Amino acid sequence: MSAKIIDGKHIAQQMREALRRKIQAFSTPPGLAVIIVGENPASKVYVRNKEKASIEAGIRSEVIALPDQVSQEEVLERIHALNRDPAIHGILVQLPLPAHFDARRVLDSISPEKDVDGFHPCNVGALFLGNPGLQPCTPHGVMKMLEYENVPIRGRHAVIVGASNIVGKPMAVMLLAKGATVTICNSKTPDLGRHTRDADILVVAVGRPNLVMGDMVKAGAVVIDVGMNRLEDGRLAGDVDFESAKLKASLITPVPGGVGPMTIAMLLENTVEAAERVRRKGSKETV
Ligand code: GUN
Repeated sequence: MSAKIIDGKHIAQQMREALRRKIQAFSTPPGLAVIIVGENPASKVYVRNKEKASIEAGIRSEVIALPDQVSQEEVLERIHALNRDPAIHGILVQLPLPAHFDARRVLDSISPEKDVDGFHPCNVGALFLGNPGLQPCTPHGVMKMLEYENVPIRGRHAVIVGASNIVGKPMAVMLLAKGATVTICNSKTPDLGRHTRDADILVVAVGRPNLVMGDMVKAGAVVIDVGMNRLEDGRLAGDVDFESAKLKASLITPVPGGVGPMTIAMLLENTVEAAERVRRKGSKETV
């Protein structure tokens, strides 16, 4: 049996089209500011893709590209100015930041209401407590994919490989909130296959090609590959060996064309959500 392939590109396109129509009804467009520091080639591609998708959806996009040597103080000042700017509803600082930055301090300086990455402690805490505000884009995109494919979650065993703040940890909380039994593995977990083979839903987000082979996948499992690795020959590959895993899984995401496009769609959705929250707050204050 060969798995059905989850077409993240198609699902994301549908979401982006729905957002575009929604934004047309806005009197002023939502505004998204993206700060990128330095010359990381992968980051530059991600930021360009985010900008292109924003513009297509009708979001006012502002990219602030700063040189490697820029001081943390200057970046913090820029963020404070964006926090005060009523035309900007979402602020994103592309990671990784250069080594001389305290990334946590930079992320914490973004107003939680404009934190479209969902990385601020207020948004992380709200997610943890089951009353989410703006949610991290990649795991939120995975949840949307599972919903779109009608994957049952309640009572299922979800195994997450990778415990990052960006993907693994929020992914665990989101699946737990939907009633899954959740196991979180990390790069130090011995005999990884013992855990992955027990997964009804397997989410892999480590950044190591071929970490999960087909013999580590339970028959009929749903496999979500968040990995995005550039191979020596220039090709993109996930963390899961697609060819062997698809013979075992019932549903599987490809790389590229799986989770990646969903992350961008969720960023746009968070920006619209942030703008709508401002509008709702404004109309309450004038009543
Ligand atoms: N770098 C890799 N993934 C992400 C992400 O989701 N958000 C930001 N800001 N930077 C990233």
